[in-house]
Amino acid sequence: MYLSPLQSRLGASALGPCLPILLYLCLISPHSAVALDLEPATPIPQDNDVGFSPNPAGRSPLSANYEPAFIPFDRSIIGRAPPENFNPLTNNEPFPIDIDKGAAVRFVFPLTDVKSRESGYSRLELRDEHSLLDDNDAADETGGTEGREGASKLERRQTSRRVYISANTCQQPVAVDPSKTTGSPPQLTLFVSKSPENMAPGLFSDPAQQVMLKFVEGAVMWNFTTKHDVYLAVYAPNVSDEYTGSYNFRIAASTERPYFHYNDSVSDALVWVDSDSQGALLYTQNLTSSNDPTVQEVAKSSQPYVLFAHNQDDTSINGLKHSYCGLQNHAQIALSMGRGTEMVKTSMITRGQEGFVRQQFFFGSLNSSAKYWGILAKDGSSSSGKRQNPIGGGGEVFSATEFETKSSHGNCAIITDLEFCNEVAYSVPSNPNTFSNRDLATWYDTQAKISYENFNKSLSQIQCEAPSSQRYSLVRTCEDCAAAYKNWLCTVAIPRCEDFDNDEPFLQPRAVFQPLPNGERLSDEVLQRFKPFENMTSYKSSRSPRIDDEVKPGPHKELLPCDYLCYDIVRSCPAQMDFGCPKPGGIGFEGNYQQHKPESQKLTCNFQGSAHVKSAAPPRRLKSVWAVPTWALVVVIGTALIA
Ligand SMILES: *[C@@H]1O[C@H](CO)[C@@H](O)[C@H](O)[C@H]1NC(C)=O
Ligand SMILES: *[C@@H]1O[C@H](CO)[C@@H](O)[C@H](O)[C@H]1NC(C)=O
Ligand SMILES: *[C@@H]1O[C@H](CO)[C@@H](O)[C@H](O)[C@H]1NC(C)=O
Ligand SMILES: *[C@@H]1O[C@H](CO)[C@@H](O)[C@H](O)[C@H]1NC(C)=O
Ligand SMILES: *[C@@H]1O[C@H](CO)[C@@H](O)[C@H](O)[C@H]1NC(C)=O
Ligand SMILES: *[C@@H]1O[C@H](CO)[C@@H](O)[C@H](O)[C@H]1NC(C)=O
Ligand SMILES: *[C@@H]1O[C@H](CO)[C@@H](O)[C@H](O)[C@H]1NC(C)=O
Repeated sequence: MYLSPLQSRLGASALGPCLPILLYLCLISPHSAVALDLEPATPIPQDNDVGFSPNPAGRSPLSANYEPAFIPFDRSIIGRAPPENFNPLTNNEPFPIDIDKGAAVRFVFPLTDVKSRESGYSRLELRDEHSLLDDNDAADETGGTEGREGASKLERRQTSRRVYISANTCQQPVAVDPSKTTGSPPQLTLFVSKSPENMAPGLFSDPAQQVMLKFVEGAVMWNFTTKHDVYLAVYAPNVSDEYTGSYNFRIAASTERPYFHYNDSVSDALVWVDSDSQGALLYTQNLTSSNDPTVQEVAKSSQPYVLFAHNQDDTSINGLKHSYCGLQNHAQIALSMGRGTEMVKTSMITRGQEGFVRQQFFFGSLNSSAKYWGILAKDGSSSSGKRQNPIGGGGEVFSATEFETKSSHGNCAIITDLEFCNEVAYSVPSNPNTFSNRDLATWYDTQAKISYENFNKSLSQIQCEAPSSQRYSLVRTCEDCAAAYKNWLCTVAIPRCEDFDNDEPFLQPRAVFQPLPNGERLSDEVLQRFKPFENMTSYKSSRSPRIDDEVKPGPHKELLPCDYLCYDIVRSCPAQMDFGCPKPGGIGFEGNYQQHKPESQKLTCNFQGSAHVKSAAPPRRLKSVWAVPTWALVVVIGTALIA
């Protein structure tokens, strides 16, 4: 005989110790065993066919745990008597199940059972729950329990728990005709009963006694406090016409935290640094907030994230972008599944702003001029020592980051891991016929190093180690000066390359009249447009003549260095070094520098550690404490120093 969850609940106090055995019997009963084994759905009466007499045959071929959504039950019965067809949920154990379009499945989370098993339900937790009950959750708590108003506060505290319900869609129907149906299939809907009176949450039950939650991108999360068993239902929308196939999802209840978690509170969980025509470089936010080497070593010893990536031209992950199992099943690159691992190298780095530890993902063999989704996630099964039913075992998915590859001109290439300019990790002007990417990195790094040595000689002639009375500044040291100079130099000597087709107004066209790596020139129409600039160095050549002579990248655009990099040198270095910077609009500014515009939401100028961050993180700036009329000096330190 099948023991209904209501009976379990009512018997819980008396049968406490026997309950696990009874539940075990439930679990192995043939009713439950066929839950995953759905037979093809028989025709299901329609919503508007309420006059249609309920056809018992409509249910019998299906598993007992399966119930068509639109069986015209008498409303007065639903909501009071407990329907029998529940799938029991175990704390932190995902329940996978198929559901046909237009159908519903029901679940019960026997909280009383969880509680009776947890003998060590601590005092501390009780106090936590108490404080939670004092906030607006208390409303959920008491909803529909008029008859128990008299229950003492103590009793309520002892029996209430916070319950986290979460689910992920692993499969969804596919469009019959993808050329006509471009949207993603409609999402599943979860109903959670808020009251023990409502054991059949769903379309026909009192909305005041339940919450209705539509899945978003294949995921749903909900938490509330309760002292009763939790009744749930998941409905699949009827999309017969346009889509074929069924839904598959996993649902779990937990008393600790959501088992399936999506986290969209960090919009830039994954930062797009730069890309070239076949590759892209992305990294996570900083994993530490310390530069202490021992802290950094520990943080670098493991790779906490997995990555999913997908070409946006392919719609198969649309509607599943918050679902760990949906992404595992459908993303083109799924590192957790070993799919596409040959296309992505991941490593732990300390590059980027502040030099904190991050996890980096370096893509190769992508398509050119293509847009991709990159989705960062944490694998839940490995994050807990416990093998069985780990808390949060369904994983954590972060919001998607868009990135795109450059066109196929092939004259921008990402270089990283330079020895001297160790912060450089972006696209530089290139030509596959002159240098491989590795040699190119070394070539640019060498150019910068040579220039730095000249500077270093001049700096060593200045009294850096002198007592403070003889030093050039009380607040700035030669180290500040050297750091500011290196920052500026690496940005200026290693220009950041963008597609020539990129029409952003802040980009500087370079080498317009030269041939592309494949020998072709720009179209006559484009060349005509640039005719007025034919005698301007900033248009007709690359940033330095050496680049044109040795790398020969041909027409490209340059994301110019940020102007403040130059001002920082003037502020940080001794006056006798005679540095000066051009002013915006003044001689030597245009074509050499660009202003940082955090409000534009775009990367308008380049600096060491810059990335395509939406929020355009403010660059590292030195405090302007050294008030010197720097604007008086118009010694242009643009390209001259590194010629
Ligand atoms: C779903 O919709 C189709 C057409 O709109 C209809 O023929 C079918 O009966 C519906 N199924 C259910 C379960 O309502
Ligand atoms: C619990 O739900 C509340 C709102 O219902 C939400 O603000 C909170 O973030 C949730 N907690 C977790 C851990 O999901
Ligand atoms: C989302 O992730 C960030 C970074 O890992 C974390 O600080 C934050 O607490 C998370 N938010 C939720 C609701 O879990
Ligand atoms: C990242 O760095 C910022 C400071 O720049 C810090 O406030 C934040 O806590 C760091 N994040 C982590 C996860 O340590
Ligand atoms: C590249 O494009 C081809 C053709 O459009 C497509 O089949 C393939 O999946 C794409 N590859 C990637 C990695 O985007
Ligand atoms: C700069 O010069 C100092 C000595 O004057 C030397 O110790 C240091 O290594 C030099 N730095 C570089 C990067 O060459
Ligand atoms: C560029 O210089 C050449 C030779 O001096 C001259 O003939 C031509 O008119 C100049 N072009 C422009 C746009 O000034």
